[in-house]
Amino acid sequence: MQKNHKPQGFAIVTHGGVGEPLAYTDGCARAARGGHDKFRETGDPLDAAVAAVTVFEEDERFNAGTGSVLGLDGATIEMDASIMDTRGRLGAVATVRNVRNPVVLARAVADTPHVLLAGEGAERFARAIGLPPSRPILERQREKHRKLLEELAGSVPVMPGIDNRLFERFWNYKTPLQLPASKSCDTVGAVVRAPDGHFAVAGSTGGSSPSLLGRVGDTAIVGAGFYAGTAGAVAATGIGEHIVRHMLARAVYGWIEEGMPLQQALQRGIALFDKDVDVGLIAVSRHEAGACANKNMPTARIEE
Ligand code: GLY
Repeated sequence: MQKNHKPQGFAIVTHGGVGEPLAYTDGCARAARGGHDKFRETGDPLDAAVAAVTVFEEDERFNAGTGSVLGLDGATIEMDASIMDTRGRLGAVATVRNVRNPVVLARAVADTPHVLLAGEGAERFARAIGLPPSRPILERQREKHRKLLEELAGSVPVMPGIDNRLFERFWNYKTPLQLPASKSCDTVGAVVRAPDGHFAVAGSTGGSSPSLLGRVGDTAIVGAGFYAGTAGAVAATGIGEHIVRHMLARAVYGWIEEGMPLQQALQRGIALFDKDVDVGLIAVSRHEAGACANKNMPTARIEE
C-alpha cells in the first residue's frame, strides 16, 4: 500500500455510462473539456464536475437529462442526480420530473438545509429557483422504450437476476402494461481533483429501464453511486439495485484512502459483481485518475 502526500495537478475523469457505445467517447471528451473550462474560470472542482455533467445532460445520446429513458408507461421520465465535494457540499435529487438539468438542481440542494429532495418537492424547488423544464421527449427515447417492451416479452432477464414478469406483477402505472431491446442503467458522471487537494464528484441519470414509478437507484444515494473525501472522489455506473448493496463508491473510496493503488481499488470494486451485472467506476485520488468497467464504457480524462 502506498501513502499519498502532496496532491498532483488538476484532473477530471468523465464517463457516459457502462454499456454505452465507445463511439460516444467524443461526448465524454466534450464533458471533460466543459469541466476543465469551468475550473479555469472559477477554480472550484465542484463547479467543474457540475459543468461536465451538464454537458452530458444536454447530449441526447446519454441516459441523463435530455436523453433520459422513459418509464414503463412510455410517458414518464424520473431522474436522479447528485453532487459532493471535500468542502462539505452534498446534494441530491431523486425521481425528479420535468427538470432540464437535474445536476444543477442537486447542486442547489446542497445550499439548502437538506441533502436529498425527491419527487414533486424537488420539482417545485426547481421552479422556485428558476430552473428550466425538460425538453420535449424525442423519437429516439420512444424507440428505445419500444425495444425495451419487446425485450420484456422475452425470457432473457432484462435486469439480471429478476424475472421479467415481476415488472408486470408489480405494475404501478395507470396505463396497461402491453408486452408486445434495451435495458438501461446508465449514469453519467465526473470526478475532479483540484491542485490544492480538493475533490468533487457529480452524477446524473434517467434511472434504470425497466423500472417501476418512484424507483430510486444508486445515483442519488451517497456512498453508493458517488462519494468524495479528502483522499479522492469516486463515481459508479450500472444497475443501481446491485450497486447500493455494496455501497460501492464509499467502499472503493475507503480502499483508496488506505493507500491502495487507484486502479487496483477500482478493479476490486468491479470484482464484487457477477459478470452479467454491468458496472463501471471512475475515480481520482491525490496522485492518480482512472476508470474501470466490466463492459464497454466511454470515458475521457484530462490531467495537468
Ligand atoms: N446507475 C443508475 C441507476 O441504476 O439508476
